[in-house]
Amino acid sequence: MNKTTYNKNLVVIIASVAALGGLLFGFDTGVISGAIPFFQQDFQLSNSMVENITTMGLVGAVIGAMFTGRLSDIFGRKKTIIAASIIFVIGALWSGWSKGPEELMFARLFIGLAIGISSFSVPLYIAEVSPTKIRGSLVSLFQLLITIGILVSYLSDLAFANDSNVESWRPMFYMGVIPGIILFTGMLFLPETPRWLMSKGREEESLKILKRIEEPSLVNESIQRMKDEITKDKNKPNIGEIFKPWLRTALIIAVGIMFFQQFVGINTVIYYSPKIFMIAGFEGARAGIWGAVSVGIVNVTFTILSLFLIDKLGRRKLYFIGTGGIVFSLILLGLVFAFLPQLGDTGKWLAIIFVWVYIAFFAISLGPLGWLIISEVFPLKVRGLGSSIGSLSNWLFNALVAFTFFKIVKWLTIPGSSIITHEKLYDPSLHKFTEQAVNNGNPAGAFWFYAALGILGLIWGYFYLPETKGVPLEKIEEHWRKGKKPRELK
Ligand code: BGC
Repeated sequence: MNKTTYNKNLVVIIASVAALGGLLFGFDTGVISGAIPFFQQDFQLSNSMVENITTMGLVGAVIGAMFTGRLSDIFGRKKTIIAASIIFVIGALWSGWSKGPEELMFARLFIGLAIGISSFSVPLYIAEVSPTKIRGSLVSLFQLLITIGILVSYLSDLAFANDSNVESWRPMFYMGVIPGIILFTGMLFLPETPRWLMSKGREEESLKILKRIEEPSLVNESIQRMKDEITKDKNKPNIGEIFKPWLRTALIIAVGIMFFQQFVGINTVIYYSPKIFMIAGFEGARAGIWGAVSVGIVNVTFTILSLFLIDKLGRRKLYFIGTGGIVFSLILLGLVFAFLPQLGDTGKWLAIIFVWVYIAFFAISLGPLGWLIISEVFPLKVRGLGSSIGSLSNWLFNALVAFTFFKIVKWLTIPGSSIITHEKLYDPSLHKFTEQAVNNGNPAGAFWFYAALGILGLIWGYFYLPETKGVPLEKIEEHWRKGKKPRELK
């Protein structure tokens, strides 16, 4: 195979380097959970101040996703990811260095920007450099690295957690510097995407890259389609275009898939699983953290499986199998919590098993599909902007679910079924951790609520989820132009 022919290994390397943005996304969202008990004690913070610091990361992600979509259309995908990697490195150093809670808040806001930027620009970059046939698997590498990032953050938190050193939180944050530097260095060597180059009229460079990454039989077709697309879009305004009727379906798909990805409650498990396992009956914070690590391992394992399935079974099949499984496990999880006293010791084991089943179904479906679909459904001219709207919705819904979870648990607790746990909590007035009885309500109702939303998701998916497997990106645009239904895409 000479240098100018399609080279699958090269594409896999390119996609893997860019996907490191996912590792940082996962690491920097996960790292805070292990750091909290230490900086809370170090700075003597109330729970609400801790919540503010945690929230700031999400606020940063929303801002990052909101304002940089257009920038990636203007300056290119590669430069956008490089900018994000620089923010990741500075943000990790700044977080670890922070002298007080206010400074830490700003540092988390800052690193949140990078999480928001990378969450749409990385999948977009990968989708645009991938050969059509394996685009799904390659974009799913991004999700795989998110899950690895979450797991690594749990493990590194465990490694640095030292009860006799209140400053243990600092090295936890510093760890994020390493993947940041690798992403930065790696991206310097990667090409810009052929699609973005073409949109800037740099046809020769675009063709040169496309020849190395796309199957030879599809190169000419792709180039022709890109050209047609650009001619059609030439005289149209940029930003307004995305809200035009012919792109409404693409917008509904991007926002909708992110709505269901978040509203089946994934992050109640990712952020709060130690707490959920304690409510189920596992005693002590350490047992809770090991429970979280087990969730992380199941998540990574099944995301690997999804890489093999996504371009074989296709998006729609995986969506229905996965969402169906999520609904099923949420219903069972709810039953376990509702009947916890009757189930005795078995209850807590059933709880952890159904959480694993739930995560496994998420990992093969809504997890990778969310990020993949938003990178596929928009036409070239507004692809950056479009996928940033998808990503922005993801962060908004994520924040909404995270902040309402414990409230929904309280509202939907069946009277008389509240679960009381005894936990070591920080008491700012005494400046130390004390054992306190906590009334947790009962999460059964909340899990059924997310199951109900999952059922809505199945109906929505029937009408709106397009089968993009094996379909060149340019053909997807044509489909919307003809005003056809998502279900009819093939
Ligand atoms: C979601 C995150 C979630 C992660 C879990 C991602 O696709 O967007 O919110 O924490 O999957 O693996």
